[in-house]
Amino acid sequence: MFLREDEVGRRVARHLEPGWTVLDYGAGTGLLARYLTRRVGIRPTLADLVDYRNRLPDFPFLEMGDPFHVPVEGFAFDAALLLFALHHNPWEAQPKVLAEASRLFTRRLVVVEDTPFGMLDRLANTAWDKALNLRHGVPTPFTFRGVGEWLEAFADHGLRAVHVESYRPLWPTLGTYHHTLFVLEREGSGAVPRRPAAE
Ligand SMILES: C[S@@+](CC[C@H](N)C(=O)[O-])C[C@H]1O[C@@H](n2cnc3c(N)ncnc32)[C@H](O)[C@@H]1O
Repeated sequence: MFLREDEVGRRVARHLEPGWTVLDYGAGTGLLARYLTRRVGIRPTLADLVDYRNRLPDFPFLEMGDPFHVPVEGFAFDAALLLFALHHNPWEAQPKVLAEASRLFTRRLVVVEDTPFGMLDRLANTAWDKALNLRHGVPTPFTFRGVGEWLEAFADHGLRAVHVESYRPLWPTLGTYHHTLFVLEREGSGAVPRRPAAE
């Protein structure tokens, strides 16, 4: 799956800085954290509800008993990542996950989500989501949101997007639906907003 790590990781990497402490909330195997460590020089901590059998042992891991609580003090990290984690939660739980992520970072929250753009996108997204998560036992409630809906949800937590980028990932889902990367900072943090881009 190196192709997937490269495709997602190089987009995320542009928004992190060397030496930053980074919480990977919903880290899965930790492969993306390893990619970002090698490429940018971040210092990651992994957190997840599921302790994957094939999780990399390279980094500190916080096994979570509560999906809305990472057992660390507030503002413990420079950045937090939510990479394909939010849509594994029911609609009503997503704001709680966002609230917890917001509690923990000082500089940036980077979210990447499945964001189907229409009916065909949604069908493909649903099928891939089921297929890719089955073996890990990760719930798939298919609670995807569109780009605008996510921006509203972020604004509800005082988070504004300084960069938004939608693209059709090739790996492993062969360009059949869209992902969107959101780079978020706290309202009033002085970052300059950039125009949304789409591929
Ligand atoms: C599709 S996997 C993505 C894993 C990794 N971020 C990646 O992109 O390779 C989603 C992961 O998020 C985790 N997850 C989803 N909601 C979570 C929550 N509320 N708290 C902790 N982990 C969560 C799941 O257990 C799963 O490991």
